[in-house]
Amino acid sequence: MPKHTTEDRFGHLRTSIEIKPGERISICRCGASKEWPFCDGVHKTLPNNVGPAVVTVVPNGEGEETNKRTDA
Ligand code: FES
Repeated sequence: MPKHTTEDRFGHLRTSIEIKPGERISICRCGASKEWPFCDGVHKTLPNNVGPAVVTVVPNGEGEETNKRTDA
């Protein structure tokens, strides 16, 4: 699991996540994950359609931009 830290920034919590090129992470957007800030899949049990933000670091900045919807 990637290294992450959370700090107070002017009264708001800010989480920084260190990820390596080629690594892919899923960030929880539903707020219910026990592995927060990472998605643990519990969103699938909730009565809404909120899923994770999936982040991939493309090596050397290469790759294609995508805006497609995928199920997680
Ligand atoms: S557990 Fe929160 S988005 Fe997956």
